[in-house]
Amino acid sequence: MLRQALLVASRSGGARRVVEFAPFTGDVVRRFIAGETIEDAARVTERLTGEGLLVSLDVLGEDTHDEERAEANVAHYVELLGRLGAAGLGVRAEVSLKLSAIGQTLDEALALENARRVCDAARSAGTTVTLDMEDHTTVASTLRVVRDIRPDFPDVGAVIQSYLRRAEEYCAELAYEGSRVRLCKGAYTAPAAVAFTDKDGVDKSFVRCMKVLMAGKGYPMLATHDPRLIDIAGALSVLHERDADTFEYQMLYGIRPQEQRRLAAQGAQVRVYVAYGPDWYRYFMRRLAERPANLRFFMRSLTGR
Ligand code: FDA
Repeated sequence: MLRQALLVASRSGGARRVVEFAPFTGDVVRRFIAGETIEDAARVTERLTGEGLLVSLDVLGEDTHDEERAEANVAHYVELLGRLGAAGLGVRAEVSLKLSAIGQTLDEALALENARRVCDAARSAGTTVTLDMEDHTTVASTLRVVRDIRPDFPDVGAVIQSYLRRAEEYCAELAYEGSRVRLCKGAYTAPAAVAFTDKDGVDKSFVRCMKVLMAGKGYPMLATHDPRLIDIAGALSVLHERDADTFEYQMLYGIRPQEQRRLAAQGAQVRVYVAYGPDWYRYFMRRLAERPANLRFFMRSLTGR
């Protein structure tokens, strides 16, 4: 119930104003968001990569409804990738891209064209792009874009959300040589017709998907903070005799940072998803929705205690 309410609030203008202008919001937001500018993102990226972690940078700003904004978002990604390339950070830092930020809501062909431009810039910077997966209504379109772009950019990462009833089938289709696939639980609301709506169902689906990906020939990117699932991932890597450089763990900036470092110290590849930009509200609300403790932390900060 609380999760649903927070996800609904993530789309409400009124709730947004309350959160943005509450006195201590900034401190809490900074726990999950690297900052508002490319400089903030570069600083955090340098720090994390210096500690042996990998990074995926997300420029916040989804659900764009006009072409100008989509164009501005593409330009921002191109500039960011130029900075990563110039600083020699392309080897350890890639970008995550939401198609809704670059025109998917207007026209899939426009989003595909724009995604190609970002992929081109990533290639010049010596790095890769992963296409985030958004709400269930966009899944078919996003998977089509992945399919259409991979002949030219085979290293484009796809994302599968285990809450989708068809997740295992998607994983089987994508578990081919060279295919980078991020597996996550799914951060949006979705009806029971298309998604598992209970935690147990989502977690069991995650395990089934992980088995498919880890047994396959692709490059699994296991995006979860869940200790049980991380343990199972480790066991599957042993079972399938996967070397540490044939898959990676992924976690969000600000969530379980000690665990990120613990896994990296053991020799695992760990990528931290670092979101930044002025348009942080929806991303932030999804993080609150994931965990009651995050919400309690936020409420305490609002009251200054
Ligand atoms: P869940 O939220 O169920 O948490 C499981 C357990 O993890 C908890 O019980 C606790 O033990 C531990 N835990 C979680 N948060 C913690 C915290 N703050 N402190 C301590 N322990 C904590 N979603 C999407 O729809 N599309 C996408 O493209 C992406 N991309 C993406 C990239 C990356 C790198 C990550 C990590 C996640 C995503 N997501 C996403 C979000 C994802 O779908 C999901 O909402 C969150 O990762 C939360 O799910 P968990 O797997 O962590 O499990």
